[in-house]
Amino acid sequence: KKGKTTRKLPMNCLDRHVHTFPDRVALIWERDEPGTEVKVTYRQLLEATCRLGNLLRRHGVNRGDCVTIYMPPCPAAVVSMLACARIGAAHSVVFAGFSAEALADRIRDAQSRIVITVNQGVRGGKVTELKQTVDLAIQSCPSVQKVFVAMRTESPVVMTARDIAMEEMQTEDVVCEPAAMDSEDVLFLLYTSGSTGKPKGLVHTQAGYLLYASLTHRCVFNYHDEDVFGCVADIGWITGHSYSVYGPLANGGTTVLFESTPIYPDPGRYWEMVQRLKINQFYGAPTAIRLLLKYGDHWVHKYDRSTLKTLGSVGEPINTEAWEWYHRVVGDGRCPVVDTWWQTETGGICIAPRPSAPNAEIVPGMAMRPFFGIRPVLMDSEVLCMSLGLCVSQPWPGMARTIHNNHQRFIETYCQPYPGYFFTGDGAYRSKEGYYQIIGRLDDVINVSGHRIGTAELEDVLNQSPMVAESAVIGYSHEVKGQGKQETFNVATQSRQYTMAKICGVKFQIMVTILTFLCYKSAISQCVQRLPKTRSGKIMRRVLRKVVERDLDGLGDLSTLDNPAAVQEVIQGHRDLF
Ligand code: PRX
Repeated sequence: KKGKTTRKLPMNCLDRHVHTFPDRVALIWERDEPGTEVKVTYRQLLEATCRLGNLLRRHGVNRGDCVTIYMPPCPAAVVSMLACARIGAAHSVVFAGFSAEALADRIRDAQSRIVITVNQGVRGGKVTELKQTVDLAIQSCPSVQKVFVAMRTESPVVMTARDIAMEEMQTEDVVCEPAAMDSEDVLFLLYTSGSTGKPKGLVHTQAGYLLYASLTHRCVFNYHDEDVFGCVADIGWITGHSYSVYGPLANGGTTVLFESTPIYPDPGRYWEMVQRLKINQFYGAPTAIRLLLKYGDHWVHKYDRSTLKTLGSVGEPINTEAWEWYHRVVGDGRCPVVDTWWQTETGGICIAPRPSAPNAEIVPGMAMRPFFGIRPVLMDSEVLCMSLGLCVSQPWPGMARTIHNNHQRFIETYCQPYPGYFFTGDGAYRSKEGYYQIIGRLDDVINVSGHRIGTAELEDVLNQSPMVAESAVIGYSHEVKGQGKQETFNVATQSRQYTMAKICGVKFQIMVTILTFLCYKSAISQCVQRLPKTRSGKIMRRVLRKVVERDLDGLGDLSTLDNPAAVQEVIQGHRDLF
């Protein structure tokens, strides 16, 4: 159904704030080198957005177009997103760590005529040739007519007749009439991280998405006027869209764009940044928290974190050890930790504690309660299924409306597993108090002799060992027990030999903890330096499963893999085990 005509979206994020507080800082660009941050006020952000909007219009970009943005977190990227929104074009931000092949797949699927990029990216002290990657990608993208290039570094790049320097926007007018859009018109496409199968271009729309992103931002993080919000996710993911850009800007907030890594130049980076920028809400991922925990508390204690009020976690289940450390060490035991469950598909946070609510209880490692308007339902999918399929029983404003050019796939994936419900693909428990704990993807389960168990639970126990930095548990086919034996991959913090010795102890601990469900005699453990992960930090269990099943030809799409050497290490290590 078509909705009502909405207010023009960039006006919600920019114009009305410029009217009331033009000189408030909208963006703090935390560049790779600590201490070199750049601040952009609401007035400057509006002017830049209008200029680029005019430039894009002059080059024929209009309502109904989809512009691909291949840029790291930086003001030019936010300006690009908002300029598209202003002139009614959809954007598709592609994570700037993706390969030319992955970028090309997404450009072709979105049929973009325009790509916006930067000459080079800078992250963790390393320079990446982003413009060159675009050049390579568009060789197989006949739809692309123009490439806009912003300059992140001084280093010149080869420009062809097709390329336009973003610098040209400086001569454009600072007034750009926003397009009037229907509330159900497309705001952006975002391709899911692709830890399973071919990426899907999820479609988010104007009014519902913005309402949901801004309301959740305000309520879940207890965001107040003039707070500094520090979401360290890349803008290439939904977390960056909703909580680095749209949510905070709709709320007139000051938001941090983080260009670096948690350990550059050292493992104190996050907390040094918190001290320097006086961050009030910090929002990060369990994978980084687990990594930093292993480096020790002194990296945290070195810096003043007294401005922090709320700590957020997103992306995967946060294990108890990491939750406790985040709360006790980073937050000095005084900042509520909000474990926020949601997905690219949901547009914003769906299950999370709301510390500002009266009598808000928070149980470590639990996402706690549904947000306003979210009606979770747990579906019993199979007999003896320990965790239940998490569905939502009614629509909410921020939900994705479809998959770009493939509505049938949207219906099949989300609506057909449980007719009448939106199926999230995740498993969850609900306590007798009505609190939710997310177990992880239902496709990441182990099934031993008919018993199903979420891999995350086993990993949780393994990770409690001081010798294990991270672990991945998978099941694989076994003729007697079905998808039977489990295999664990551990990233050792110490030498291989020492870790192997510790793992025996860990196994014993799991046996005691989840005694009845798994047959540990058949468990196989392998230690590795690093786990194969997608560029968004998700462990690629699908790949591990193929290695263990000796199906190296069936490894599938590895375009989202962050570090190919990690897969080689697992393959080699697995050969050595047998
Ligand atoms: O399995 C859930 C996990 O991440 C998936 C969504 O991934 P993506 O679309 O890339 O979005 C990530 C950022 C919202 C979910 O299906 N996930 C996300 N948050 C949590 C989580 N699992 C457990 N606890 C969470 N807080």
